[in-house]
Amino acid sequence: MRRSHVVAICLAGVLGLCASMLAAAQNAAPAPEGAPTAPARPGLVILDFKPAMDDLMTMLVQPRHIRLYYAGQAKNWRLAGFEVNELRGALARIGRTIPNYRNINVDTAVAAIFADKLKAVDAAVKAADLAQFNAAFAEMTAACNDCHKGMEHPFLVIKTPDAGSFPDQEFRP
Ligand code: HEC
Repeated sequence: MRRSHVVAICLAGVLGLCASMLAAAQNAAPAPEGAPTAPARPGLVILDFKPAMDDLMTMLVQPRHIRLYYAGQAKNWRLAGFEVNELRGALARIGRTIPNYRNINVDTAVAAIFADKLKAVDAAVKAADLAQFNAAFAEMTAACNDCHKGMEHPFLVIKTPDAGSFPDQEFRP
């Protein structure tokens, strides 16, 4: 932090902190432009987290599958369309992060098993047709499971959500 910033904060009245902050600011050499900043605290280690397939499924795919469903049930087609894109993008990012899972190419598997089913959901969303959406969503969910079977995880079974979820999010248009 620059000395002038510290002084500004001090003027703002955080007086108890001032002495130690000023000392720290004076000791710290200004970081050159674009250089990585030093850890905020000595001893703080930022771990190099590399998400695995299960992490990415949990983080990127499963929540979008659920949200997409609720948006559709609420006939919130704008939100549903957004979630279709989120799901498509999530799988694309997974393919870039983990190009091959146990010697199976992820992009190829998604294209072969999943992409058309997601397109059908997208078509139902664009048609704003709930019955069509529900049928397409069920087929897409079956495709989640086809991929799990194909990638040696047949016991990972995804179903159409049958209980409320994301209580903090409004799904109605
Ligand atoms: C390209 C193939 C593929 C597709 C498509 C796919 N999955 Fe997965 N998924 C996997 C694999 C492989 C695993 C197991 C990963 C592991 O064990 O590291 C997995 C694991 C999971 C898990 C378990 C994560 C955990 O840590 O418990 C969930 C939940 C999941 N997938 C949800 C979904 C949903 C929902 C869909 C459909 C919208 C979907 N997946 C589509 C390949 C796929």
